[in-house]
Amino acid sequence: MTERSLFGEITVEQFLAEYWQKKPLLVRGAFADFEFPVDADELAGLACEADVESRLITQSADGEQFKLSHGPLDESVFAELPEKDWTLLVQAVDHWVPQAAELMQHFSFAPNWRLDDLMISYAADGGGVGPHYDNYDVFLIQAAGKRRWDVGGLFGEESPRKPDIPVMILPDFQPEQSWELEPGDMLYLPPQVGHNGVAVGDGCMTYSVGFRAPSHAELFQSFSRKLADELLSEVRYGDKNLPLQDHSGEITGQALDQVKQLMQGYLDDPARLSQWFGEFMTEPKYPELAAGNEGDAVELAEIDGLYRTEGARLAWHKLADNSFTLFADGQRHSFTEAELPLVQAITEEYAFGPPENLSDSETALLQALIQQGALHCGEEYDDEEG
Ligand code: SIN
Ligand code: CO
Repeated sequence: MTERSLFGEITVEQFLAEYWQKKPLLVRGAFADFEFPVDADELAGLACEADVESRLITQSADGEQFKLSHGPLDESVFAELPEKDWTLLVQAVDHWVPQAAELMQHFSFAPNWRLDDLMISYAADGGGVGPHYDNYDVFLIQAAGKRRWDVGGLFGEESPRKPDIPVMILPDFQPEQSWELEPGDMLYLPPQVGHNGVAVGDGCMTYSVGFRAPSHAELFQSFSRKLADELLSEVRYGDKNLPLQDHSGEITGQALDQVKQLMQGYLDDPARLSQWFGEFMTEPKYPELAAGNEGDAVELAEIDGLYRTEGARLAWHKLADNSFTLFADGQRHSFTEAELPLVQAITEEYAFGPPENLSDSETALLQALIQQGALHCGEEYDDEEG
């Protein structure tokens, strides 16, 4: 008998080849025996916290009007909610709830720097955010209650949307497939696929594991900003072999080749490209909330356990000259092949036992990561976690 993967009877390889970024996939019972870590009361509590990103969306009875409030919400809001047609959505729950790491771990089939966050929604009967599309891959996991998902069509920035309402509603949305999800079921949707999730009955909780993909505009902007910060103003376009042109008003193909070559040169530098990309893709989701651990170095020999800080982004790269870089929340740390097993563990796991037999360089690396807040020590290492 073949072992069930996250995708049911489909192997991870099959999922990547046939579905990932291509077409929706419904997996019944993907999280059948999973204990979902956040319930409705905890979610409402999170939505009242100042640093937590949340939204409350209420629909009119005819489904035509939508009201949107951004968190932090006042506790009194919950007492005044109607019986039907509203939903509360809390972003980046994995930044606040350590137990969410166990859920996120299931998605390690993709590079961790492609993962964005865990969003959790709670909806009363009929509640939802309306027909819309997202620019990212998403796994919609039904944690409690039931939700009907209508799915169909590909949409983009140019697609018409309903005017004068605070949420994106696609008037041209036509469902092509429809499923009712029960607790433990999971629906994968590629970017730009139109979808509408409506709670069927009360107590509908959906966990959305969202991925991230920078737009080409963001990539160019970020790379060129970093490059521009580093380059001296004397480094300029040059034309030592300037040919005599027939027409002084012409921009020749030769001039354009020269520009292309000088720009290409920066992209063809693997150290430059990887340093920028590693920093860029590990930048924290909420940089303003990132906090380091000031103070004395930790006695690593005495700690019970080490944990990835919730929301920390960690990835590494090896260059052809066998030099290695670890990227942690947008910061770079060089290391050598000897530290690679440690770095692999740090970038793949969320919780570690007490570190043992550390070399001086491993100790220095861990200390730096603890100081910048990407890792932290725990009182007690819990085998169940992570
Ligand atoms: C949800 O309502 O839980 C998911 C919203 C979405 O489709 O993005
Ligand atoms: Co969506």
